[in-house]
Amino acid sequence: MDKNKNLFHAIIVDDDPAIRESLEQWLELADIHVQTYSNALDALKNIDSTYSGVIISDVRMPELDGMAFLGKVPDNIPFILITGHGGIALAVEAMKAGAYDFVEKPYKPERLVELVKTACRQRQSAMKARQSNDHLLGLSGIEKDIIGNSEVIRKLRQQVLMLAQINADVIIHGETGTGKELIAQCLHKYSVRNKHAFVPINVSAIPENLIESELFGHEAGAFTGATKSHAGKFEYANGGTLLLDEIESMPMYFQVKILRVLQEREVTRLGSHKSKALDVRIIAATKKDLKVASAEGEFREDLYYRLLVSELHLPPLRERKEDITFLFQHFLNEAALSNKLVAPDIQLDDQLALELHDWPGNVRELKNTAERYLLTRNISGISLQELLQVGNTGAQTINSESSLTNRLEYVEQMLIAAELKHHQGNIKAVMDVLDLPRRTLNQKMQKYDLKREDFLV
Ligand SMILES: Nc1ncnc2c1ncn2[C@@H]1O[C@H](COP(=O)(O)OP(=O)(O)OP(=O)(O)O)[C@@H](O)[C@H]1O
Ligand SMILES: [Mg+2]
Repeated sequence: MDKNKNLFHAIIVDDDPAIRESLEQWLELADIHVQTYSNALDALKNIDSTYSGVIISDVRMPELDGMAFLGKVPDNIPFILITGHGGIALAVEAMKAGAYDFVEKPYKPERLVELVKTACRQRQSAMKARQSNDHLLGLSGIEKDIIGNSEVIRKLRQQVLMLAQINADVIIHGETGTGKELIAQCLHKYSVRNKHAFVPINVSAIPENLIESELFGHEAGAFTGATKSHAGKFEYANGGTLLLDEIESMPMYFQVKILRVLQEREVTRLGSHKSKALDVRIIAATKKDLKVASAEGEFREDLYYRLLVSELHLPPLRERKEDITFLFQHFLNEAALSNKLVAPDIQLDDQLALELHDWPGNVRELKNTAERYLLTRNISGISLQELLQVGNTGAQTINSESSLTNRLEYVEQMLIAAELKHHQGNIKAVMDVLDLPRRTLNQKMQKYDLKREDFLV
């Protein structure tokens, strides 16, 4: 195990001792822990796929040259090649062969230091992602059903397991796509009722005139068109769990009837006089705060208090950002499995893009995005940033309520666009004036959808 896990690490390979020494000094000054080697073969003895740092190598070296060295280094370790003046053709070849970036001699040491730091950051975040993915794959039980590491989700899992053991009715409150139905399923799955049915019913989807017969059932001849007798959802759910989804849209007059069923624990089919005893756990899911709705006269207060034996609140995804990447990786894995594809690793800028997005459709939107990303990137090579931008309503704008991150990004985007305009799309000039490595500039241009072609004159 690496003792200095959070420290940045780099390996320098160069046959020229003077270069090794000066580079080492520059990097050490920037708090990067350095190992130096005079030849690639010695370096390779100390590199395996668990190495958490970055490799910086000269091209021309005796025995194994830089390109051959690159071919022997594990794929995921960022490899920066230092090429001689005019070594562009070689550099292009190196990039194709998987090098992280190249620096042409003579170079500014400050720029190389920045490049190494960025690469170290990305390497560490990729390793973290891999670890969290291994963690994901090892999950079982309710941790596998309800994914998330945030405090609220951890607590929620405990509450679900606890509530599953008792018979209380439950209200689940949360925005669209936050996982209300999933929680209801888990309350059923981890209860003693799990041998019986889990019956979800979306109250808002049933026409008002059918709601009674749908829920309570009817006898033949109970009303025009009722040719056969029919068991209602309450009866189907007997012994098990009934989910009344979108209960906030239940007509007022019907709420009284539901209240009666909840109190008496028996149900009577339409057209019948005989009631049947019920042993059903009722779960009500709602997007509206029922307390507010009942205070405003839109929901019966007595039904609200009857249901309110316990209430679970599911916060929107934007309020538990630490769950986003983990969930995204989970959905990528699932989609990859069912499509026989390989799930891509999530890079640092992907993570940033995911966390910056607002996710109005919550976990459902995240799940759809993961599926779409997996499929489209195979066809068109689209980046996650691009995909999220397409889905966004408009260009990035800021106002007095925007977060610091959003405002800084806005400024960054404007600055890069201004320099691109000023230098008429000359990337090298923009790199110099903003002192940005090529790769960083590329990434930022991609993120803000700035295209070089748009600035050429
Ligand atoms: N914490 C989670 N872990 C894993 N999957 C989740 C999680 N939360 C939600 N999901 C998945 O996200 C999708 C949407 O969840 P669900 O249908 O339960 O949301 P909902 O709150 O009922 O939405 P709506 O209000 O629109 O009906 C489902 O595929 C669900 O399995
Ligand atoms: Mg739902």
